[in-house]
Amino acid sequence: MASHFLKIFGFSLLVFASYVNGVYEDDVSFDQNYFSLWGSNHLTRVNNNKEVQLLLDQYSGGGGFRSISDYGSGRFGMRMKLPYANTTGIIISFYLTSAPDSHDPGNHDEIDFEFIAGTDLQTNIYAGDSGNRGERYQLWFDPRKDFHIYEILWNPNIVVFYVDKVPIRVFKNNKDRGVNYISNPMHTEASIWTADWAGTVDWNQGPIITNYRRFGIDGCVSQNTSLNQECLSPNLPWNLQKELSPRELMMYRRIRKKHLVYDYCLDKERQQNHPECLIPPI
Ligand SMILES: *[C@@H]1O[C@H](CO)[C@@H](O)[C@H](O)[C@H]1NC(C)=O
Ligand SMILES: *[C@@H]1O[C@H](CO)[C@@H](O)[C@H](O)[C@H]1NC(C)=O
Repeated sequence: MASHFLKIFGFSLLVFASYVNGVYEDDVSFDQNYFSLWGSNHLTRVNNNKEVQLLLDQYSGGGGFRSISDYGSGRFGMRMKLPYANTTGIIISFYLTSAPDSHDPGNHDEIDFEFIAGTDLQTNIYAGDSGNRGERYQLWFDPRKDFHIYEILWNPNIVVFYVDKVPIRVFKNNKDRGVNYISNPMHTEASIWTADWAGTVDWNQGPIITNYRRFGIDGCVSQNTSLNQECLSPNLPWNLQKELSPRELMMYRRIRKKHLVYDYCLDKERQQNHPECLIPPI
């Protein structure tokens, strides 16, 4: 009887585990993994702390939050819903960065999702350098209408950007070909802010709000200033992926053909500093 019970119990544990990438991560409350980094009076917890709203206004700017821990590999995702607003001058982001909170470190590691003055999604990668690896996509949905998942897989082999589980960008570890790769622990951040270079904000429309959900993190915590060796282990599930699966590759090619509207590797001003642009695309 007891062993029968254990078997059933064990089975339901397995079923529960398989939800880790879906329901479970949405069920984690904000404070478990995140804290307000700046503009804390512009961060509002809603929906039982399972969702936060970041507010931007004319008088005191925007706000941002970050993960409590630093990581050495993992899958990092956020559900975001953009404001119905004229976002000229406004930047809305979710990203990983190795930069310390207190100052701009110059060259560092960073993996970005950003909406800059509009509903086109931009991505960028810094790999111990000053980045300038921008790509831009016209999304196949309206990011203001509903929540969508913006997700980054980062492991020793590969960085993949996913939108609603569709891979839109791949950056492989090509260190052996002289291409820089992420080499420092990073934490996640999300923010809404304004930048003059993105245009002049129309404040007549009143305060602007972005919603964020899904505060679970599937990552390897790295306490060190250098990457924790354990985070490179092939025993971690997110470290197994070295390339896209055939199904992912099909989606990736289709999406990029239709929705990629800017690629730094095709930009004469940007491409020459980036040896990865000489490697044929997958
Ligand atoms: C958005 O606001 C900017 C700055 O006020 C303005 O120049 C632009 O025309 C507005 N765009 C739309 C679509 O209303
Ligand atoms: C931090 O890194 C040093 C040097 O690589 C290593 O000896 C130490 O065990 C690491 N500590 C942790 C907590 O990983």
